[in-house]
Formats: sequence, structure tokens, C-alpha cells
Amino acid sequence: MDPYQKPPIASISDIPVFCSDNEYSENYQTISEDHLSALEKTGHNPFMDEALWQSIEAGTVKLIERHSQGGKILDVGVGTGRLLSRLSSGYEKFGVDISSAYLGLAAKQGINVCKAFVEELPYHDNFFDTVVTTDVLEHVLDLNTAVKEILRVLKPSGILIVRVPYRESLRPYLNSNYKFVHLRNFDEDSLTLFFEKIMQVKVIEFETCGGLITREHLKEMMPNIFKAAFFLGIHGLKFVSKPLWRKMADRFYPHSEINMVVKKICG
Ligand SMILES: C[S@@+](CC[C@H](N)C(=O)[O-])C[C@H]1O[C@@H](n2cnc3c(N)ncnc32)[C@H](O)[C@@H]1O
Repeated sequence: MDPYQKPPIASISDIPVFCSDNEYSENYQTISEDHLSALEKTGHNPFMDEALWQSIEAGTVKLIERHSQGGKILDVGVGTGRLLSRLSSGYEKFGVDISSAYLGLAAKQGINVCKAFVEELPYHDNFFDTVVTTDVLEHVLDLNTAVKEILRVLKPSGILIVRVPYRESLRPYLNSNYKFVHLRNFDEDSLTLFFEKIMQVKVIEFETCGGLITREHLKEMMPNIFKAAFFLGIHGLKFVSKPLWRKMADRFYPHSEINMVVKKICG
């Protein structure tokens, strides 16, 4: 069955396009091009430590596999497709994003991709068994419409897995070179209020992950010099053994991301 409820307005390298570009999508196209060209030049992700990213992704993959039994899965804001590429072949994989640069890479991973805004998804109602969206909802301009759209395309009793930054300081984004950046903060209470009270779905579980120490955390701890020295000591391990540093950071640093599993309740 065709996943789309309307015809695309264009097609770029065989990828169906359902939206026209605007200032917002051009911003994310620029970010993705900066990301990919830095990766090509230096071999390093300019936005996030690779070991940290992999450990965060591993947690989300475990949750997907624990709560869903294969079938159709949609990754909203699929990026390069790296999360879905870690899933077993028991899934029919779909992805949507506004960055053509990322979509080209995701398509090469065997993901059925299209270009569209999350606020206006092109898919049929109740189409997907599972929807996952990681590091996207902090960006969107209209959270209410975005989440309503995600829930529209999810089957009744389907599972939605959301991962967002956890209690993040937005201060560094005030000086960002990009206009559109992280716009909001999340924790268990804000997510429960929004998803259960407003969206009327059931929160099944939360799991925080990704130990990360930031300049803001260290500043807060500076009066407590022993605590700050302890965290800086762990940081030093990064240069001795990355796997050991990652283990210690996951255990002791403040968690930087939160996964939430919700179920779409019927009727
Ligand atoms: C931080 S990246 C996360 C990518 C991927 N989900 C991951 O975890 O690696 C955010 C992604 O969301 C996409 N995005 C941001 N706002 C969007 C919107 N309104 N509609 C669709 N995609 C959007 C961006 O282009 C980008 O690929």
C-alpha cells in the first residue's frame, strides 16, 4: 500500500517532496551540510561526541525492540538514518526529514524516505505500528501540531518513542550562529503534562541516558571544589581510555537526554 495520502509536489533524486522550502528548512539544510562537511574534513561530529551519541542511541534501540514487534516504523526527523539502521530487518523502515542532504544518506540505508515537515506529514492516518523521534521535538516551531500529526499517523495502541534533551540549559543557544536551534526544555513532568493531559496518550516509561558534563554544570559546582575536581577527573579519563570514560560518565555525569515511551490509547 502506498504510504502517502497525497501526491508529492516534486521529487529530488527519487525522493518524494511534500513541502516547499522556507527559512526554517533552509536553516536545517545548512546545519546538516555543516555537519556532513565537518565530518568529511575532520572525521569528527562537530555537534556531539560520537561515543556519547552511540551510547544514547543504543538505549533508544533497546526501548524500540522491547516495546514493538516489528512492522512499520517511522523515524520523524530521520537525519542520516543511523538510528533505524541499527534495528533488525524485522521492520519496514520509513523516514521523514526536511534536509535533502540527510535524506539522501538515509535512503542509501534502505529507508523509505520523503521530505516533509513533521507539522504536515504526508502519510495515511493510523499507518505505522511504531513512531520514533529523537532530538527533534526541541527544535520544532509548533510542538502541538507536530505531536498531533505524529499521533495521527500512528495506529491505535501503537507505540511512540520520543527522545529529547533532558533539563538542558538553553543559554548556549542564545549566541548560536543558526537562527533556529533548541527552543524548549524537557523533563518527566513537562513531558507527562503535555503527552497525557493534552495529547491523551499513556506514558509507559521514562529512561534518562547520556552522561554529559557541561560548562554550566561545572560553573554550578565551582563552590563545591571537590565535586568539580571529581567530574574533571572523570573527564581526564577520556584521554586515557574512551570506553572507560564513557562508562564512568554514564554512571556519574548528569544525564543529557530522556527517552519516553507512550502508547496511543484507542477511543
Ligand atoms: C538533531 S537532528 C536529529 C536527527 C536524528 N533524529 C538523530 O537522532 O540522529 C534533528 C533533525 O530533525 C530535522 N527537523 C527539524 N525540524 C523538523 C521539522 N519541523 N520537520 C521535519 N524534520 C525536522 C532536522 O533536519 C534534523 O535532521
